[in-house]
Amino acid sequence: MQPDDIRSEFKNIISQCKTFDDLEGARVHLLGKKSALLNLFRSIQWLQIDEKKKLGRELNLLKNEIEFLLESTRSKLDSEARDKALSEKIDVSLPGVKYELGSIHPISQTAFEILDILDTLGFESVHGPEIEHDFYNFESLNISQNHPAREMQDTFYIAPNIVLRTQTSPVQIRAMLALKNPPFRIACFGKVYRRDQDITHSPMFHQIEVLHVNKNISFSDLKGTVTLIMKRLFSNKVQIRLRSSFFPFTEPSAEVDISCIFCNQSGCRLCGETGWIEILGCGLVHPKVLKRININPETYTGFAIGIGVERIAMLRFQIPDIRLFFENDLRFLSQF
Ligand code: DAH
Repeated sequence: MQPDDIRSEFKNIISQCKTFDDLEGARVHLLGKKSALLNLFRSIQWLQIDEKKKLGRELNLLKNEIEFLLESTRSKLDSEARDKALSEKIDVSLPGVKYELGSIHPISQTAFEILDILDTLGFESVHGPEIEHDFYNFESLNISQNHPAREMQDTFYIAPNIVLRTQTSPVQIRAMLALKNPPFRIACFGKVYRRDQDITHSPMFHQIEVLHVNKNISFSDLKGTVTLIMKRLFSNKVQIRLRSSFFPFTEPSAEVDISCIFCNQSGCRLCGETGWIEILGCGLVHPKVLKRININPETYTGFAIGIGVERIAMLRFQIPDIRLFFENDLRFLSQF
């Protein structure tokens, strides 16, 4: 191909370009590594000096013309695209795209509300792992290898000594070890696991653990704190009752009942005609638990509370079956 052939061809090629892709194709064809023009540039080296100058000038001129036409065609395509976009009409009367709004799960709602109450009392929210060492989940909480209390919390073992935590109580130990020096005032919300299922038990459920360790903490601090949480959560009229109980990591231990919020204590199906509803477990931290992590139980005492979040949510929203929380049925979830 001679320069004149290229000259007579390039305007035609570029003028046929309708899109940016076409234009890029034309650029590669006319100026790329395999183009006729570049071949001519390469052939210059074999010419006499005069010829070299002449052809060089001519080829550079040709290259400039091609580049100019490519560039002006690109601007033309640009402004055509802009005009087209500007002339598009939007029909504002068309129905919009609907975004479904989610809502906070009733378990989270309940937990956040309890944590908020605890926050106003100065309890800081902390977290611990769901896959836990036997030591934190049992041993350090005074539940030794053959302790019958393990039976009540038969769990999922991942490896010897590694379990899915059966309770949030191990976070008491983790928090005390991490914070080192009392006072400790922490709350932990999280998932726990047990081999258990019926309409009030699920193999995965949620607890909130509360721990307060300081000088001169007594049972009356525990009772006052529990009463306040229950009144804020249910109603100012709610009464609490403490029954003696047993947990290996607290001494003394208590089970807390609230006066039935459904029947005002006249007796109904929900309180089993007793007028009271069992709500949580608590107690004063066992001296052995403190001693094991080098906190002197002569100087420091504390209380701990374990709250089952599902139980509270079932009472507050009057939900009859725990499984409803975890079936992800929108007919259920969209009510909250
Ligand atoms: N961890 C106990 C359970 O899962 C609940 C509990 C009871 C926690 C008493 C406490 C407590 O902190 O003091 O059954």
